[in-house]
Amino acid sequence: MRRRHVLTLAAAGAVGAGCSAGDPPRRPAASPAPPAGLVFPNGFAWGASTSAYQVEGGATEDGRGPSVWDVFSHQQGRTEDGGTGDVAADHYHRSYEDLDLMRGLGLKSYRFSISWSRVLPTGRGTVNAKGLDFYHRLVDGLLARDITPVATLFHWDTPQALQESGGWASRDCAKWFADYATVVCYSLGDKVQTWLTLNEPKTVVEVGYTAGIHAPGVRDRRVANVVGHHLLLGHGLAVQAFRATGRKGRIGAALNLSPAYPADDSDAARRQATIADGEENRRWLDPVLLGRYPDDWLATQPSDAPVRAAIHDGDLAVIGSKSDLLGVQYYNPTYVTAKGGRVQKHPTSQATWQEIYPQGLHDLLTRIKRDYGDIPLTITENGMPSLQPVDDQDRITFLRDHLTAAHQAIRDGVRLEGYHVWSLLDNFEWAEGYSQRWGIIHVDYTTQQRRRKASADWYQQVIARNGI
Ligand code: FCB
Repeated sequence: MRRRHVLTLAAAGAVGAGCSAGDPPRRPAASPAPPAGLVFPNGFAWGASTSAYQVEGGATEDGRGPSVWDVFSHQQGRTEDGGTGDVAADHYHRSYEDLDLMRGLGLKSYRFSISWSRVLPTGRGTVNAKGLDFYHRLVDGLLARDITPVATLFHWDTPQALQESGGWASRDCAKWFADYATVVCYSLGDKVQTWLTLNEPKTVVEVGYTAGIHAPGVRDRRVANVVGHHLLLGHGLAVQAFRATGRKGRIGAALNLSPAYPADDSDAARRQATIADGEENRRWLDPVLLGRYPDDWLATQPSDAPVRAAIHDGDLAVIGSKSDLLGVQYYNPTYVTAKGGRVQKHPTSQATWQEIYPQGLHDLLTRIKRDYGDIPLTITENGMPSLQPVDDQDRITFLRDHLTAAHQAIRDGVRLEGYHVWSLLDNFEWAEGYSQRWGIIHVDYTTQQRRRKASADWYQQVIARNGI
């Protein structure tokens, strides 16, 4: 029902706000020429995103060790239709074809993640040269096609061996992560100039350790907050490890953020929105960019909460180690009622957690500038799943509306350097298995044949014009 609603709105061009670039003039004869469109700054990094476990497959090949997602997805009932990443989009074997598809689109930037357990099968110790070679070939292929590699070190696939030693609930995991960062950043650092440490630590905390519907399937809010702190510590230590390699380049985190609005104009709803903003945004942004936890967020943690003991002296200075950039991932706003409940006010998509509100992206980007200064930003994920397999007009509307909002933020002075659509390819969407298609390129999972969708054709034109 909800899904049909969103498609109807999208078809009528009503999804989202502020998409006026293509409106026809009311009196064609007398009015000025129609707007020429929105041009982005020179060098804007038009990109697309994927992550290792979602696209690679080759799960047991060339010495790769298992990650928490291999184990989790093979457990009964964890994913839709029992889907796993064993084969996924078979990108491990088809990377050259995929590189050519990227070149065909004219991509300037490709954001991918490195599978920790492909490089270090048990998470630490001996390096698996064949695993590292895969990423060297991928990066060489990108550079040969003039596409900038943007490498994420951790996109949720903790090596299973480390999980068995406590995983992110253990403080040691932050150190293991930094050691892995040293290996990868040193090895690839003569070719990769842009690094992202963590992808969406909030999702690991909320979905992996609180709701328990992502790996490792834990349901414990108290442990989850400890995990959140250790992830942030891992981020800080990885930034320091990268600097210590002496490699040139930039590093930062990729955070999923959600502007929080009161659901009505009562004072109580406003207060609740501030609390939600702490949970959704400041709890991640403040440590990474300011080297402190927000007082109001800390106040929500009872004095006996294990996270308090997990925060050691000096941790926040490590976490706040200077970042060179911030990856911003935007899928939905948050609306909060006077009682602190969450409500949706805009259409959703097939992913019912999503809420389509392009103006929220503008609000988010301008807010980061206002509260955290001029750190370079790049949108590392934004997109929607479509039920239209190839003629995905709803996705085109979505992308146009969000790019319009991003452009407005640039006009308002935000230092936005790039945009990466989620995703390049249809892929394994975690607990949703293969039931949601987020790619601008269609993947037939029986034949592994790729086919460009209408949104890919549209995006190619956007890139060629450097605007919409
Ligand atoms: C983000 C994840 C990404 C993908 C999209 C739809 O939260 O980072 O891997 O699942 O959502």
